[in-house]
Amino acid sequence: MNKEKFYVTTPIYYVNDIPHIGHAYTTVAADVVARYKRLKGFEVFFLTGTDEYGQKVEKAASAAGVSPKELADKVVERFKSLWKVLNISNDDFIRTTEPRHKAAVLDIWEKVKAGGDIYLGEYEDWYCTPCENFLTKAQLEDEKCPDCGREVDKLKEKSYFFKLSEYQDYLVKFIKDNPGFISPKIRENEVLSFISEGLRDLSISRTAFSWGVGVPEDPAHVMYVWFEALMNYLSGSGYPVKKDFWPPDVQLIGKDILRFHTVFWPAFLKSAGLEPPKKVFAHGWWTVEGKKMSKSIGNVVDPFKVASDYGVDQFRFFLLREVPFGKDGDFSVNALEGRINSELANDLGNLLSRTLSMVAKYRDEVIPEFKSTEEDIKNAKDSGFGFFSPDFKDTFDEHICEVRFHLALEQLWEVVRAMNAYVDKSAPWTLAKEGKDKELDLVLFNLLEGLRITALYLYPFMPESALRIRKSLGIEGSISAVDFDKDILFRGETIGGLKTDKGSPLFPRIEKE
Ligand code: MSP
Repeated sequence: MNKEKFYVTTPIYYVNDIPHIGHAYTTVAADVVARYKRLKGFEVFFLTGTDEYGQKVEKAASAAGVSPKELADKVVERFKSLWKVLNISNDDFIRTTEPRHKAAVLDIWEKVKAGGDIYLGEYEDWYCTPCENFLTKAQLEDEKCPDCGREVDKLKEKSYFFKLSEYQDYLVKFIKDNPGFISPKIRENEVLSFISEGLRDLSISRTAFSWGVGVPEDPAHVMYVWFEALMNYLSGSGYPVKKDFWPPDVQLIGKDILRFHTVFWPAFLKSAGLEPPKKVFAHGWWTVEGKKMSKSIGNVVDPFKVASDYGVDQFRFFLLREVPFGKDGDFSVNALEGRINSELANDLGNLLSRTLSMVAKYRDEVIPEFKSTEEDIKNAKDSGFGFFSPDFKDTFDEHICEVRFHLALEQLWEVVRAMNAYVDKSAPWTLAKEGKDKELDLVLFNLLEGLRITALYLYPFMPESALRIRKSLGIEGSISAVDFDKDILFRGETIGGLKTDKGSPLFPRIEKE
């Protein structure tokens, strides 16, 4: 049977800088979507990579006394090793300096040109190199870049232009006809209001430096880095040879690069006769302990360090649990430790540990054979085992598809908390003391079954911990063998006999010194 395809992307990261929490954020988010869709049986293509051309990278390399390619070769390894550490399951990694990228870019350039959308002119206006963005005088704030607040340069150079102005009506109609293409809604409004101010043609080549993809038949020009970089989503998925994953189902980006992805990008694609992505979701920005993250303040959060100090899954969980995905959020040690202690150690870790302790103590680590009655199922439902509700699975699915990670986790935690309350209420220790074996088996069965399902829902967010839970419940077999639609449901019975294994605490508490 042919599996349904699903394509998810992250932005490609500039190699002028080493990875920080902002990069980790988008990539972990995309990983959750990719893992979830794979678990559901989709054939997933998850792409990330590095953006290696442009004036900004060229400047950074020259400041470091190396060639841009040498800088890229070095920094790309930092990104790749971070993705390994954070357990990122990307299917490919595209570097824009690869020949396969150039091939796709040239193909698109030719298509856009053949459609009559490229002409030679002269660009005379402002440019922000840190943002790699063209600006008008009116857009400047205090003569600085309105987006990053840094110095801008006045440019006057020959340039190829893309007829963006001719796509204004198309874009407005497309965005309005496809609610959800730009998410969250507030970003859609922002983009529509930007377009309504009028789109000017876009300069898509530069002559002041040479670190870029050369314009065909005009060696004085290299392509504007954003024109070329956006094409990574094509080149990385095999274009122009392979088109089977096109268009992307969801492209995750930060709010600062919204216009590039929702104005330029769909216009380039339309011009080249290709379908636009189905959804572009712009997440918010992290501040650190209430302050803007910046090298000059020296508060840049190093994801390698957070993962090694607190645990990879703890970090992944925090990133997506703490802040609604479209909103800005604040990273602080207090908030991170608070989430780890309350929701991971106290709620989930404790539930697992007490359940396994009871199976060890009362049933010699062997899962009892059990078959629930209608009445048992009704009682479990009433006790907050939300997995019974037919809506649970669909609501969770909707949350992930709409990238509402914090709500998906909250929904899961409601059940985790209910299961802890169920332990307290059913007092299995009393049942054991009074020799009520059947009742005790029922409680253990409900908890073990609840934990088994929790681990499946948790897997996309915290893959390592989910696998550990499965192992401690005696579940054999790899996650890829899971039949999601069937295995995610509460079963009425166990075959019994599986051996549990408590092991060390899943989420050790962080003790304050
Ligand atoms: N190279 C471009 C993207 C090209 S995609 C065709 C780029 N690279 S970047 O390395 O500067 O930024 C990558 C991502 O990191 C952006 O989505 C940006 O929003 C994100 N973040 C950078 N700082 C951030 C925070 N402080 N918080 C959250 N995300 C942030 O832009």
